[in-house]
Amino acid sequence: MTIRAVVRGVGHYLPDRVVPNSELEATVETTDEWIRTRSGIERRHFAAEGQTTSDLATRAARAALADAGLAPDDIDAIILATSTADLTFPSAATMVQAALGMTRGFAFDVQAVCAGFVFALANADALIRSGQARRVLVIGAETFSRLMDWSDRTTCVLFGDGAGAVVLEAAEGAGTSADRGILATDLNSDGRYRDLLYVDGGASTGTTGHLRMQGKEVFRHAVEKLAQTAHAALDKAGLTSADVDWIVPHQANLRIITATAQRMQVPMDRVVLTVQDHGNTSAASIPLALSVGKARGQIKPGDLVVTEAIGGGLAWGSVVLRW
Ligand SMILES: CC(C)(COP(=O)(O)OP(=O)(O)OC[C@H]1O[C@@H](n2cnc3c(N)ncnc32)[C@H](O)[C@@H]1OP(=O)(O)O)[C@@H](O)C(=O)NCCC(=O)NCCS
Repeated sequence: MTIRAVVRGVGHYLPDRVVPNSELEATVETTDEWIRTRSGIERRHFAAEGQTTSDLATRAARAALADAGLAPDDIDAIILATSTADLTFPSAATMVQAALGMTRGFAFDVQAVCAGFVFALANADALIRSGQARRVLVIGAETFSRLMDWSDRTTCVLFGDGAGAVVLEAAEGAGTSADRGILATDLNSDGRYRDLLYVDGGASTGTTGHLRMQGKEVFRHAVEKLAQTAHAALDKAGLTSADVDWIVPHQANLRIITATAQRMQVPMDRVVLTVQDHGNTSAASIPLALSVGKARGQIKPGDLVVTEAIGGGLAWGSVVLRW
């Protein structure tokens, strides 16, 4: 008998305000055509003034709990992946815990930037498989609009705000790749690349800071490392690309997503795409895509799903799971 972390519920929340590329044309020296052709992004959502990352996360969490048919106190742990926590501390996860009215268990944030949700899933899987938690709420939530330097057109057009969440629950499996739940994870980071993508603020500056990125270099690493990590996770699960029903990639750039799918030899009609509607929502992008993919009727019970993501650090990884 093998313990597996199985997805019991999924949900998401997007702020009301939708900002199409045409709206950015008014304030940034850019065009709808440039943004579409270079990134695949057509619109993104921005949080309202005063609406924080933990607010978005709480709404996504409620949606996932409702989908699972569970109450907050049925949950043993909350792991929130974010780089835009409301405050330096306490963790945004404990704010969500309080907002949900959850009075037991424990909550903490995971910070692996755009790869955060993959890292959070791997942590939740470890907690469940080691018997430390039976049900874990795993959330990705971000307000990256607040990290943008609006005078830097190479970055400010690419990001958006949002949140997604899944409820993972312990279940007995046979220990084979036919089991439902998380089958394998692969995590990596290489701090030598810190200057490729970072925020120039924090405890060392006393400011929140702005996102800085060497886009071309990040692009190059992404195309190489995402297929690599996805293959590594599939290998660990004893599976190959031919077994994949859905790639649910980090939604940063359509060209990166396409190049990765090509390297994995998975056709694009097996890839869940939300980048056009959400932009890059960092750690929120994969759970958003899982939730939207399920709502569209793409992801169904029993499907083999591969998630892969890369972000600042660099940090990158992949999770293979059967829905
Ligand atoms: C950022 C990115 C879209 C830029 O695409 P690119 O094809 O590399 O574009 P370049 O940086 O070569 O810029 C091409 C030109 O467009 C211009 N440009 C940059 N941003 C622009 C914008 N928003 N609107 C119009 N023109 C823009 C540049 O100034 C440059 O002009 P030049 O040729 O006169 O110097 C691309 O590098 C990328 O997606 N990188 C990965 C980023 C990413 O996903 N990061 C997150 C990972 S979590």
